[in-house]
Amino acid sequence: MAKTATITYGDKKIELPVIEGTEAEIAIDISSLRAQTGLITLDPAFGNTGSCKSAITYIDGEKGILRYRGIPIEELAKNTRFTEVAWLLIFGRLPKQDELDRFSRQLTMNASLNEAFKHHFEGFPVDAPPMAMLSAMINTLACFHPQFNKIEDEETFEEVSARLISKVRTIAAFIYRRSMGLPYIYPDPKRRYVNNFLHMMFSMPYDEYQCDPDVEAALNLILLLHADHEQNCSTSTVRMVGSSRANLFTSCAAGVCALWGPLHGGANVAVLEMLEEIHKGGLTPQHCLELAKNKESGFKLMGFGHRVYKSFDPRAKILKKAADTVLDKLGVNDPLLDIARRLEELALKDPYFIERKLYPNVDFYSGIIMKAMGIPVNMFTVMFAIGRLPGWIAHWKEQHDDNTSRIARPRQVYIGPTTHDYVPMNKR
Ligand code: CMC
Repeated sequence: MAKTATITYGDKKIELPVIEGTEAEIAIDISSLRAQTGLITLDPAFGNTGSCKSAITYIDGEKGILRYRGIPIEELAKNTRFTEVAWLLIFGRLPKQDELDRFSRQLTMNASLNEAFKHHFEGFPVDAPPMAMLSAMINTLACFHPQFNKIEDEETFEEVSARLISKVRTIAAFIYRRSMGLPYIYPDPKRRYVNNFLHMMFSMPYDEYQCDPDVEAALNLILLLHADHEQNCSTSTVRMVGSSRANLFTSCAAGVCALWGPLHGGANVAVLEMLEEIHKGGLTPQHCLELAKNKESGFKLMGFGHRVYKSFDPRAKILKKAADTVLDKLGVNDPLLDIARRLEELALKDPYFIERKLYPNVDFYSGIIMKAMGIPVNMFTVMFAIGRLPGWIAHWKEQHDDNTSRIARPRQVYIGPTTHDYVPMNKR
């Protein structure tokens, strides 16, 4: 395979290096293009642009492959849990037993929030959007831990990662309690990560939440499947903000804002709303597909389609199976699951969806499982954020550790007015 690509512009011809990744992905390195020709490239929404080299996650969108640090997602889903996957993503290999024990201890020790956080929560209206509160509270962590503004070594990195991953779970549970007007429940050091989250969400001072092992396993699975997805919108945001050398907390708070949108993490809420609308009779599955196919409607089939996957999203495959198992074990008979199955069946037979290679994505079935666990719909995207946090941290670290990284600063093609004089107010 050629190691250079040739670009011809006018009478100029230049050679650009071709880079090959470990999975034979090929890229033209255009970093010297402007210096050599005065030209830039234009790629709105970055569909053809690699923003970095990364060793964290591999996706083959055509074949429906997803691997964290080389390990297939199906194997991780079968064999491990969220906290081990977090360490794998951040530190690049599976932890040894003593490393995992140390990380678990740090997660336990750092679960509490400074009592002053309660005043911050009280300052929000009860109906404040959970993702707005989450982003604000992660930024608030930067106020309480300025010692982590600079991270010099791996040990400190492990400490700050554990702190963030642990406290985000407490913040998420407190957001829910605040919105319901319920007393805050403190973390219980005897419980594991997911179990402790459910305890803080659902225990009452007079009635301690008993965590069903199947529910705990299913939530572990959901978080693990969301843990990273290479250069998606929120992760790219974290890297963009981090490239200015902004601290980890603030960079991740920006990631939460990006995740909130309905085309990204917010799709899990939009899917449930769409299924509920169909269930209430406001829309039939067929009508829903017709709307999605009509560009004028502005409606999209939520939970379908992906920038990278042009085949089944492997996470959706796992979650579809898990939805059956979890609802069955919990004895929940949710008509929304039948509607989702029907919609999927119709869409996969429809030429519009076939031609565009639109398949169910991770958000299509996750909401149905979370709903069965009692997690309210407006908390779904917060759950996605808890899951995605290790990925954001891993990417921030990869960039931080790369001493060749520079501030991210794209260019543009200016299409505004050319120069003209200022017109005084009385002459306009
Ligand atoms: N419903 C109807 N049409 C769609 C949909 C959809 N859900 N998704 C894509 N299309 C159409 C799109 O309009 C385009 O049509 P045409 O070629 O006629 O102009 C064609 O399919 C190709 O779209 P694309 O270029 O693959 O889409 P994209 O990469 O710009 O956007 C997406 C990807 C995920 C934002 C989009 O598929 C979408 O809006 N899906 C619904 C929202 C959703 O489920 N988001 C969650 C994504 S997975 C989790 C995450 O990353 O957060």
